[in-house]
Amino acid sequence: MKVLGFETSCDETGVALVELEPGGAPRLLGEALHTQARLHEAYGGVVPELASRDHIRRVLPLARQVLAQSGAALGDIDLVAYTRGPGLAGALLVGAGVAVALAAALGRPALGVHHLEGHLLSPFLAAPAPVFPFVALLVSGGHTQLMRVAGVGRYELLGDTLDDAAGEAFDKTAKLLGLGYPGGPALARLADFGDETAYALPRPLLGSGDLDFSFAGLKTAVLTQVRRLGPNVCEQNRADLAAATQAAIVDVLVAKALRALERTGLARLVVAGGVGANLRLRERLDAGAARLGAQVHYPPPALCTDNGAMIALAGAMRVAGGLARGTREGAFDVRPRWPLADLAAA
Ligand code: KG4
Ligand code: ZN
Repeated sequence: MKVLGFETSCDETGVALVELEPGGAPRLLGEALHTQARLHEAYGGVVPELASRDHIRRVLPLARQVLAQSGAALGDIDLVAYTRGPGLAGALLVGAGVAVALAAALGRPALGVHHLEGHLLSPFLAAPAPVFPFVALLVSGGHTQLMRVAGVGRYELLGDTLDDAAGEAFDKTAKLLGLGYPGGPALARLADFGDETAYALPRPLLGSGDLDFSFAGLKTAVLTQVRRLGPNVCEQNRADLAAATQAAIVDVLVAKALRALERTGLARLVVAGGVGANLRLRERLDAGAARLGAQVHYPPPALCTDNGAMIALAGAMRVAGGLARGTREGAFDVRPRWPLADLAAA
């Protein structure tokens, strides 16, 4: 089965072609991505209307690029998958509209996919692929969740963020440090030159005993330090503060992820979502998991942040698992707010 996937939920236009044969490992046949980071940079965050308009401009040229790259013809496509939600309504509508129209023109089914399920299953595009069941740490710009994953579509929420997501914590503290958007990668780069022990920042909910997260207090603590340092802060202080912030976020994520492994008795951890690209997080998770005799799986770094491949893959795995068939009706909707827990009922 060859699945063409469209991702347009936020500020990345992603298109990819994934092949999944029965009993085989998925293969990424072609992939193209356009990031709108520069478009939104001046505003310090995503401007929804600009995002929608840019998706419209990019999506068809990217689809042509993917087909050319993979050597596949339009007629080879068995299913067209698209991100149905959660995300920005106008942005989602672009991908959904294109995907459903293309599927109708080809006489093939179209399938709306949950964006987080895409992230969750993306490590199956790396070798060795994880084996069910596993604990998933989903850390993106909008979500910070720990889940017990028993199979495709079988997700049990173990812990969630009470306020800001981990990626949001990176982005907001990066903004306080005068770094551009998106802040996560920029903060991580600056942190490389800093001393993480130079500032004592809080580790919110570290000792709470549960698997929930909270990052809003950390942002306030960083703001207090930024104010104290004043406008003429030197480069070393900024790097130290970046390192201390990254360490605080990573400490909490690692402690709770390891606790989830212990609680569930599982020996496999799957990390997905944009923050999963963070190297410090990877180092610390690998070391912690090794102590527990557990294995950690990551998506290929390029597939940590939003992309079309994870949407094509999730569509393929849902169909292969008999959970969905897609629709040929030509009608569609998007779900800007769509809890992953509602997926079974969708
Ligand atoms: O999964 P994603 O691309 O989009 C959402 O679905 O939200 O995640 C984007 C988030 C942003 O908050 C970005 O700052 C963060 O992932 N991010 C990182 C890194 N790369 C991306 N955070 C920390 N370190 C990184 N290397
Ligand atoms: Zn995402």
